[in-house]
Amino acid sequence: MPEPIVIFDDVSYAYPGTEELALRGVSLEIQAGEYVAILGLNGAGKTTLGLCVNGVIPTMLGGELTGTVTVAGLNVIEYPVREMAKVVGMVFDNPEFQMSQMSVAEEVALGLENAGVPYEDMKRIIPETLELVGLSGYEERSPLGLSGGQQQRLAIAAVLAMKPNILIMDEPTSNLDPIGKQEVFDMAAKLNRERGMTVIVIEHEVEVMARYADRVIVLDKGRVIMNGTPDDIFTRVTELATLNLRVPEAARVATLLAEKDLWQGPVPIRTEPAITAVNELLGATHA
Ligand SMILES: Nc1ncnc2c1ncn2[C@@H]1O[C@H](COP(=O)(O)OP(=O)(O)OP(=O)(O)O)[C@@H](O)[C@H]1O
Ligand SMILES: [Mg+2]
Repeated sequence: MPEPIVIFDDVSYAYPGTEELALRGVSLEIQAGEYVAILGLNGAGKTTLGLCVNGVIPTMLGGELTGTVTVAGLNVIEYPVREMAKVVGMVFDNPEFQMSQMSVAEEVALGLENAGVPYEDMKRIIPETLELVGLSGYEERSPLGLSGGQQQRLAIAAVLAMKPNILIMDEPTSNLDPIGKQEVFDMAAKLNRERGMTVIVIEHEVEVMARYADRVIVLDKGRVIMNGTPDDIFTRVTELATLNLRVPEAARVATLLAEKDLWQGPVPIRTEPAITAVNELLGATHA
């Protein structure tokens, strides 16, 4: 049995100068190659959890951390900051703010330079990485002239160039249009499936997570309150509604119908199976 790539063991955390805990007794494990969605209301601790995985907490931000966070076999407090970028890459919601260079190639080169990667290697890694995110041929373009979806894929390329084992995306598409969202999620799914990349996505779009995630972890006021497969979690419709969290529309509608005995069988969480099931139901009614 392989070791999980991320282990939180009873982790609590308070930001510097605060009393209130942003994480409270969090214990969880993430296996290498898993695609995990983190859900929760504003302030639930999702970003804080991500920053613990990439070691920014506590190495750079300080604060009070108790319990242990183990990433790829090492306690995060023991990781040199430079090494961490080779293990975990994290991207945030506003790709534009993550761009600082004149060209797409330079944007990808920045992290490599900081990590002391030789120029000869960079010449190979940059086009390889741009290809991975579908930005081949954009090397000399200005990052600010790209679409939002392309900018986000560039931000992801910049972290992927370091060949991390884990990609964390913190609401990566909240500033993107539907096409941009699709581009980013399709790309992450491809990296996960074809390259075995461990993907952790902090996300409000439950439909998308129902489609892609292997597992869903729900945080509330710094605690893990649910942890299971998308089917386990998204069919707990009433519980999630009490928490003010959305569930996929398919699950919501099927649950409403089930309450009136108009839906038999399992509650679907994805749209396509729900449509098939409705068609079958209608077919059965007509027969
Ligand atoms: N730099 C900081 N200093 C002090 N407190 C902070 C800091 N960042 C976050 N917090 C607090 O920690 C708690 C968890 O915040 P966090 O940003 O992890 O939530 P979140 O789930 O990512 O929310 P959102 O959906 O709004 O992004 C909140 O109570 C927040 O106010
Ligand atoms: Mg956040």
